[in-house]
Amino acid sequence: MSNNSLPIRPIWRLQGFIDEKIPEGLDLVNAIDKLKKEKNAVVMAHYYQTADIQDIADIIGDSLALAQKAVGIDADVILLAGVHFMGETVKILNPHKKVLIPDMNAGCSLAESCPAESFSQFIKEHPGHKVISYVNTSADVKALTDVVVTSTNALQIVDSFPKDEKIIFGPDRNLGSYINAQIGRNMTLWNGACHVHEQFSLERILQLKKAYPDAELICHPECKHQIVVLSDFVGSTAALLSYIGRSSAKRFIVATESGILHQMQKSYPDKELIPAPPLDSTCGCNNCNYMKLNTLQKIYLTLKYEWPEVVVDEDIARKARRPIDAMLALSQNFKK
Ligand code: 13P
Ligand code: SF4
Repeated sequence: MSNNSLPIRPIWRLQGFIDEKIPEGLDLVNAIDKLKKEKNAVVMAHYYQTADIQDIADIIGDSLALAQKAVGIDADVILLAGVHFMGETVKILNPHKKVLIPDMNAGCSLAESCPAESFSQFIKEHPGHKVISYVNTSADVKALTDVVVTSTNALQIVDSFPKDEKIIFGPDRNLGSYINAQIGRNMTLWNGACHVHEQFSLERILQLKKAYPDAELICHPECKHQIVVLSDFVGSTAALLSYIGRSSAKRFIVATESGILHQMQKSYPDKELIPAPPLDSTCGCNNCNYMKLNTLQKIYLTLKYEWPEVVVDEDIARKARRPIDAMLALSQNFKK
């Protein structure tokens, strides 16, 4: 092949996000708003995004809320500010819409801990089992699944299966063990985990509890068992947010990704929130480096160029849609 016939690939296509100088003095918030109107686009954001992104989003929520609100969205373009598997879920639910994410490198250590080929082998090794997968998985893994769950509905969905049903649960071993313990199940667990939630330091949390004896410790079920058993409340991102409103406590040590603290403080300004620290950190809080790849600048450029776009193979998308729809249908039966 001569040099002339080499395909031209702009550098930003190789790096997975658009890196272009923003005109000096450009007001990004107004510019994003203008692009949204021009393109009939909506921005969805997970609670783990930075405060400035949460504040420009049209739809904000935890993984379940984002999946529920993605159904029947009235827009031509959907930009998902979160991580790649969330973009895939939105695309699977909106196959004819353009779904964008600001940075293709926004993966997820939990989703990556469960490659589809190995998971498929695991399923073959456990015949006769129903397969329940956390939403933090690739579309290929969802395509191998009977029902998808999120941390908000996992306990209730597992509990809706007959007690003697044999179940494979993946990929989060901590969430799986938590459910097994809570409702007396013996699900076969995939050995995966989220590097953010596994990082919390028991020692530093105990120091905080000593310094603030009136504070309640609240944590996400992706945390390790030693943090879960110490906690006053365990729940998904949305459940932690609403718990702060319900609790009579004034102070909380929050063991989950620190992005949610923005909504907690906005919703309950009179409560004091102390982020639980990981072992090796000087900042004292715990950020997901994948979630934090997104910026207002990348959102602006992604809307402008309508790239990077999330693409899911049609056959995989069809197979992955069934367990997502099963989750959405089951979730309608649960009390909020
Ligand atoms: P939820 O949004 O279900 O709380 O999950 C947390 C998470 O880790 C998302 O990546
Ligand atoms: Fe994945 Fe953990 Fe980041 Fe959530 S917080 S996106 S589970 S790595």
